[in-house]
Amino acid sequence: MTRKILVTSALPYANGAIHLGHLVEYIQTDIWVRFQKLRGHACHYVCADDTHGTAIMLRAEKEGITPEALIGRVHGEHLRDFTGFHVAFDNYYSTNSPENRTFAYEIYAKLKAKGKIVKKIKSQLYDPEKEMFLADRFVKGECPKCNAKDQYGDNCEVCGATYSPTELKNPVSIYSGATPVLRDTENLFFKLGDCTDFLKTWTNTPGKLQPEAANKMQEWLESGLNDWDISRDAPYFGFEIPDEPGKYFYVWLDAPVGYMSSHKNLCDRLGLDFDSYWNKDSSAELHHFIGKDILTFHALFWPAILETADLRTPSAIHVHGMLTVNGVKMSKSRGTFITAESYLSHLNPEWLRYYYAAKLSSTIEDIDLNLEDFAARVNSDLIGKYVNIASRAAGFISKRFDGKLHSSLKNDELYKTQNGDIKISDLNVLINDLCYNLQQASEEIADHYENREYSRAIRKIMSLTDAINQFVDGTKPWEMAKHPEQQDDLHRVCSFLINAFRILTIYLKPVLPQLASDVEAFLNIAPLQWSDSQSLLLNHTINAYSHLMVRIDPKSIDAMIEENKQTLEPTAAAPVAAPSYDIPAIAETCSIDDFMKVDLRIARIADAQHVEGAEKLLQLTLDLGGETRNVFAGIKSAYKPEDLIGKHTVMVANLAPRKMKFGLSEGMVLAASGDGGLYILEPHEGAKPGMRVK
Ligand code: MSP
Ligand code: ZN
Repeated sequence: MTRKILVTSALPYANGAIHLGHLVEYIQTDIWVRFQKLRGHACHYVCADDTHGTAIMLRAEKEGITPEALIGRVHGEHLRDFTGFHVAFDNYYSTNSPENRTFAYEIYAKLKAKGKIVKKIKSQLYDPEKEMFLADRFVKGECPKCNAKDQYGDNCEVCGATYSPTELKNPVSIYSGATPVLRDTENLFFKLGDCTDFLKTWTNTPGKLQPEAANKMQEWLESGLNDWDISRDAPYFGFEIPDEPGKYFYVWLDAPVGYMSSHKNLCDRLGLDFDSYWNKDSSAELHHFIGKDILTFHALFWPAILETADLRTPSAIHVHGMLTVNGVKMSKSRGTFITAESYLSHLNPEWLRYYYAAKLSSTIEDIDLNLEDFAARVNSDLIGKYVNIASRAAGFISKRFDGKLHSSLKNDELYKTQNGDIKISDLNVLINDLCYNLQQASEEIADHYENREYSRAIRKIMSLTDAINQFVDGTKPWEMAKHPEQQDDLHRVCSFLINAFRILTIYLKPVLPQLASDVEAFLNIAPLQWSDSQSLLLNHTINAYSHLMVRIDPKSIDAMIEENKQTLEPTAAAPVAAPSYDIPAIAETCSIDDFMKVDLRIARIADAQHVEGAEKLLQLTLDLGGETRNVFAGIKSAYKPEDLIGKHTVMVANLAPRKMKFGLSEGMVLAASGDGGLYILEPHEGAKPGMRVK
């Protein structure tokens, strides 16, 4: 049965860069989503930037830009980083969107109509210089219990005491340094306590929460639920509350609503039925992946709000632990507070995806990135064991058998042993057994992925990989190659190895999507689905093998750590000045179908030449992987031909050929212009000639 599944990861705050801690969550979720898609389910993965709140407002102020400009820029940075790690959202949106405002208002109206919103006067710390109320984290002072200096307003990091910010000794505002004063203000509260019975049942329903999370929630529920303060006074960046001028929704009210708005935005784009996902009696599944630090927001407030607003509640909340690096919290001084961007400039994203997968389980335990172990594990498992299978077999297939796989892995010939028994060959038995074990493992591995027991899935896959490598060591194809009478067996063995490699690739595909796609190209096959593990690739021509993955060089890790050490304090970005060139207006919208008509490809500039008599043109020979194109490009003013050779760029590959004075031009390269210069587009490292750009 095809399941309808909507999956979310927590919405990252729009005031900071994505780092390796965040990526535990986005990689964990992405693996799960890719797995569901490979199984043929209708699965969508949505996320967004969490854009509201005081922190974002003040950060923008510091940079001298508007909050909108800040969140616009960060949205691009976040999406770039996620894409770099192959985290493939179906939609990546923003909580500062019209959909989100509409939903937040609708839900609030519902809560209000049901009498669940109350007003209460609250006495809160106020910064008289900045003229704003201060959240607990924005006040520092001395711990009332142990007198430790420089502690936040909610708890002491030295003695662990929790208290209210008014109890701090010698408090100061972290913004202005002013001494905060107490001031009364009227706030809006959601009557969370009224949902106690519902929440008791909900959090105890099997499958909703992991046991550790459910226990935590029981503790909270037993100690009694307070009303939840959902408003903040101006100045605040967020949605102003209807009929309450100067009051805004607290960021945590409209943030989870962002799951709905991002999904709504996706549904509108794809023509999907949004309501069928969010109706009270919806049969679609809704899965939230989050870190344990934001459990109460998702396991108490969010289900209570959905229930009160007559919407469906989540099918499950999947909680993970926090990342440590080399056994301790990520640290800027140690260089282990590693941003996604800096990782990507030194290392391959799939190494980290693999390592996280090998460590992740369904528990909420913290996970440790031990950098030495990381290199050792990836090098031994992925390169030493898995990729090794293909590299050991592929050479024989292309050199001896014209790239063609055997038509049968089984040798059906029986032969008589010396005492007259009928026997099938040992090789046959071995191949049969290994094939059976490989294919048989499909459902076990699928169960592990489904239950988010990725480390178990990886362990199983690697034990299968070990068995295949033992088989290679035992059968010694390189010895067979020396004996003319063993050529058929050699062909069979190598064809089996390629098949084993193909099946292992299917099992690893949720974790290593890029590698799997490179393997598909090497094997000359359509994108692999999970069920393809039950078939074999026979009598089929594969492409020549080229390196699929290189080993981690520990020097790259050291360089990355050094780089992160240098950026001890984040340097405030320079205020964005008005550009000194003209920015043309954005063109009219075009449909995705129209856009898809344009076939953009990665091209390698194999050659570049001056064109006799042409003022502006260079003649480019573009390598598209399988074929080359002759293109005349008007970029002479900006480039010397010799500087272009070997570079990768993007070309329109299906542009109708144009006859020009100097010859036929078979396409167009993409370049930006506007300030008098010309800049051809260049893909990130790793993009290969012929890849489609979309
Ligand atoms: N904006 C809120 C979430 C709103 S969801 C409606 C938020 N943002 S966050 O950027 O701080 O964190 C986003 C997710 O990343 C959270 O689930 C958080 O647990 C996770 N992680 C952030 N740092 C992490 C680690 N160091 N380790 C593991 N996960 C971490 O919370
Ligand atoms: Zn203390």
